[in-house]
Amino acid sequence: MSNSNATLTVDGKDYPLPIIKGTLGRPVIDVAAFQEAGFWTYDPGFKVTAPVESKITFIDGGKGELLHRGYPIDELANNAEYLEVCYALLHGELPNAEQKTDFYEKIRKHSGVHDQLRRFFEGFRRDAHPMAIMVGVVGALSAFYHDGLDVSDEKHREITAIRLIAKMPTLAAMSYKYSRGEPFMYPRNDFNYAQNFLYMMFATPADVDYKDNPVLSNAMDKIFTLHADHEQNASTSTVRLAGSTGANPYACIAAGIAALWGPSHGGANEAVLEMLDEIGTVENVDEFMEKVKRKEVKLMGFGHRVYKNFDPRAKVMKETCDEVLGALGINDPKLELAMKLEKIALEDPYFVERNLYPNVDFYSGIILKAIGIPTSMFTVIFALARTAGWISHWLEMHSTPFKIGRPRQLYTGQARREFVKLEDRK
Ligand code: CMC
Repeated sequence: MSNSNATLTVDGKDYPLPIIKGTLGRPVIDVAAFQEAGFWTYDPGFKVTAPVESKITFIDGGKGELLHRGYPIDELANNAEYLEVCYALLHGELPNAEQKTDFYEKIRKHSGVHDQLRRFFEGFRRDAHPMAIMVGVVGALSAFYHDGLDVSDEKHREITAIRLIAKMPTLAAMSYKYSRGEPFMYPRNDFNYAQNFLYMMFATPADVDYKDNPVLSNAMDKIFTLHADHEQNASTSTVRLAGSTGANPYACIAAGIAALWGPSHGGANEAVLEMLDEIGTVENVDEFMEKVKRKEVKLMGFGHRVYKNFDPRAKVMKETCDEVLGALGINDPKLELAMKLEKIALEDPYFVERNLYPNVDFYSGIILKAIGIPTSMFTVIFALARTAGWISHWLEMHSTPFKIGRPRQLYTGQARREFVKLEDRK
């Protein structure tokens, strides 16, 4: 893969650094020779570090392009179902008809959870944040699947991926039902993945005539697809790092859920709605934007480490948002507020100069709210959908030789090297 070298020169000695090209995107420089030269590389926030080689997802942040297994995200979102996208993430190709039937059947078969798992829910206060519950119960799955699980066995890894993708909607809906004090609803075989999730969220045992609303379940499916994977982001890197120690995969996914929770990552969709609530009405927008420019607050749902152009997921999300609000006849003043923020941000030099565009989370919250999903569940839905990406990366890592992830540091603490006895301490 390497066909040229960069050179590191230290004290007159040259160290060749191979330049490696992938199929798309910037080439990377193999910096292994830094060790021989007596250095570590220093890159806070991993801004220029590629710790892995991957075949799953490609992003060109400058162009605003996102490909899963080579397919553009908007084409996947508009033409494929989420489970087909999951199959492609896991296996490298979209499924043919037979593979699709088989995969869907497996997911359906594994969508239930062990009845003992409900006791984990009962251990949480009824007002616990559903993300806190998800970190706990997904981690708890490792207790159900541990002794018999051999991560070096391909078949075991594959069934783990199926189980996780199948059970996430059930666990996510259970975390919501628990917070409402309503009985858990079990998945139904006659519903597809997104329909089942909405059914488990919103139906009650008394609801014998529960009917799916296809506009909402299709929008839900699209939201899942738009969140399915995003290459080496903070949560995926967390899953890979935890997985690199050989840890139980359910525990690794729980670590990913924890990393996703923060407002700089998956928690941003919840933060967008909180921000819109705080702004209140369009009259307050200008004053809020001044606060953003004084760096007192961030404009949530804007900016991205990788995209320095429109987030391609945000484009599809905006179209879906219009469809859902139109179909439900909702004229949400929050949408008007969001449009005003977007307009200012796309024109104001502060945002233009910094390439700050709306990201996926800017619109998803508005759609989820219209569907009737409470704000505290937004990040849970992100976690549900991203599980396919996390486990695909975990599978990719385990299918080739890998090393434990162990970064270095620049130490700037004391260099005392001598113990100070208690009586001598000031
Ligand atoms: N509002 C106002 N200013 C911003 C924002 C924002 N949302 N994002 C970045 N900036 C400014 C930042 O202050 C800095 O200004 P200066 O150059 O004057 O110091 C400049 O833009 C560059 O920002 P940065 O912090 O170096 O960028 P980053 O790559 O480290 O951070 C980010 C990326 C996503 C954490 C950040 O843009 C952010 O906090 N955005 C809001 C939260 C958000 O919407 N997150 C969801 C990301 S999409 C979902 C996902 O994939 O997880």
